[in-house]
Amino acid sequence: MIRCYITGTSRGIGKALALSLLEDAQFMVTGISRHCSIHHPRYKHVYADLSSEKGLEEVQFDVSEALDQVILVNNSGELGEMKHVGDFSEELFVRTIFLNLTAPCLLINRFVQSFKAFSVKKTIINISSGAGKNPVDGWSSYCTSKAGIDMFSRVADVEFGLKKSDIKIYSIAPGMVDTEMQERIRKTDEQHFSRKEEFISYHENNALADPHLVAKKFFAILAGLFVPEKVVFSLSEFK
Ligand SMILES: NC(=O)c1ccc[n+]([C@@H]2O[C@H](COP(=O)([O-])OP(=O)(O)OC[C@H]3O[C@@H](n4cnc5c(N)ncnc54)[C@H](OP(=O)(O)O)[C@@H]3O)[C@@H](O)[C@H]2O)c1
Repeated sequence: MIRCYITGTSRGIGKALALSLLEDAQFMVTGISRHCSIHHPRYKHVYADLSSEKGLEEVQFDVSEALDQVILVNNSGELGEMKHVGDFSEELFVRTIFLNLTAPCLLINRFVQSFKAFSVKKTIINISSGAGKNPVDGWSSYCTSKAGIDMFSRVADVEFGLKKSDIKIYSIAPGMVDTEMQERIRKTDEQHFSRKEEFISYHENNALADPHLVAKKFFAILAGLFVPEKVVFSLSEFK
């Protein structure tokens, strides 16, 4: 059996991925987020707000199960407050960096530590973004956190290599996906985000991917049907 821990399973990409994995009887899913919208015999939910240390305390990895593989998908994320540098709230900036970057890094640390003594196959996927590679005005906390998770994944991969560990880690940008996150982008005040009209046109021209199709690509990676050659890459490279 394979246990997959996924943050942010209440909606969007995380929910689509959890449902896709649950269609396959070898997967058991533990979802972690503030709300639960999946009910399935092989699904467990951990209620946690991952934007602070207190919420992170709710998350434990179960080392008592006999497993063939264990997976961690860091998917929870938010755009944060969309304001230019000089205008943003420091409190909200810290919260977004914690949710998008600190929590995934600490969960990876805890995941690696918890399963260190177990010779089970281990895979970690961080859901990153093209915004971690290209600057977008109004998105400083989001871009910074996604660039950070890309680099953290690369460092961890080097360390796993030095230790001849078989842990696989990836930081994968899903492309533009039709979720609530994109809805929020289209509602931002143009004063704080100059590219609002561009993102409205992506939606009008059906340029956003269906979360279920995106989930199928992540499923292919987790089921070993596609083995990525790079740590940091975009799903658009995977046809
Ligand atoms: N959609 C896109 O175009 C796009 C593009 C590039 C990258 N991404 C990345 O893909 C990932 C998923 O995004 P999405 O588009 O599916 O967004 P979404 O529909 O807004 O879903 C976000 C998920 O994150 C969870 N989450 C948000 N705040 C949380 C908190 N404080 N604690 C725990 N969980 C929290 C939410 O659960 P609760 O509200 O129940 O807590 C929800 O399940 C994110 O990392 C995002 O940066 C998305």
